[in-house]
Amino acid sequence: MVEFVLPKNSRLTQGKEFPVPENATRLKRFEVYRWDPDTGENPRIDIFHLDLDKCGEMVLDAIIKIKNEIDPSLTFRRSCREGVCGSCSMNVNGKNTLACIKAIEDYEGTIKIFPLPHLDVVKDLVTDMTNFYAQYASIKPWIETQTPPPADHERLQSKEDRKKLDGLYECVLCACCSTSCPSYWWNSDRYLGPAVLLQAHRWLVDSRDENTGERLNELEDPFKLYRCHTIMNCTDTCPKGLNPAKAIAEIKKMLLVRKEG
Ligand code: SF4
Ligand code: SF4
Ligand code: FES
Repeated sequence: MVEFVLPKNSRLTQGKEFPVPENATRLKRFEVYRWDPDTGENPRIDIFHLDLDKCGEMVLDAIIKIKNEIDPSLTFRRSCREGVCGSCSMNVNGKNTLACIKAIEDYEGTIKIFPLPHLDVVKDLVTDMTNFYAQYASIKPWIETQTPPPADHERLQSKEDRKKLDGLYECVLCACCSTSCPSYWWNSDRYLGPAVLLQAHRWLVDSRDENTGERLNELEDPFKLYRCHTIMNCTDTCPKGLNPAKAIAEIKKMLLVRKEG
């Protein structure tokens, strides 16, 4: 369970409760975090009621319905609505997840929707991902080579080597894991966090990449990598069922093998 932490010096206030829809047959109550920097007001919780018989099945469907039919000012990110773009990450009933692949019926009672924790909020459910993306760019998420490519074909990969990317390539960079990690909360300026480290591992094990040594040099740092204390929040929360904690352990193992070898 990862509770949303309010921005410094702010108080969460009770916001507006919107009316219950008439003749509703299957009511559901939603509490949604709201904050608009332009008003200068404290963040608030608004309450919405939806008739689930007139709403799609996923939490994102409910948020879209609220925006379309009740309050058009509600602000959030989304694109694919099928768990592949990573943009609808938010904290739902205390756990970071992708709203588009989380079913409303998985939650009993009120559904409480907050932005991802421990990031600056831009507006409502939109967080500032600048540092996260800069950290991602820092691990050079592309193939780096020293040798020229083969003259008559692409750089090929055996099926066995391709398989080593399973459990890594599926990451959609939603940041659910990193923003559930206590080490990342306190040191996100220097610790890369589970999402970026899982991505680092993805390039370390790619048989076509020829820069493993340099990549490991970059990661061998008390803060970038070794702030992970195996708390496992990251793996527990990943909505894609990936295991960033294991990827981090694998990087540590690679560094150990290199030292001993
Ligand atoms: S295992 Fe490491 S990266 Fe994952 S939550 Fe714990 S400290 Fe953070
Ligand atoms: S590892 Fe999972 S939780 Fe972390 S960024 Fe990738 S998809 Fe999201
Ligand atoms: S909208 Fe793309 S992952 Fe949810």
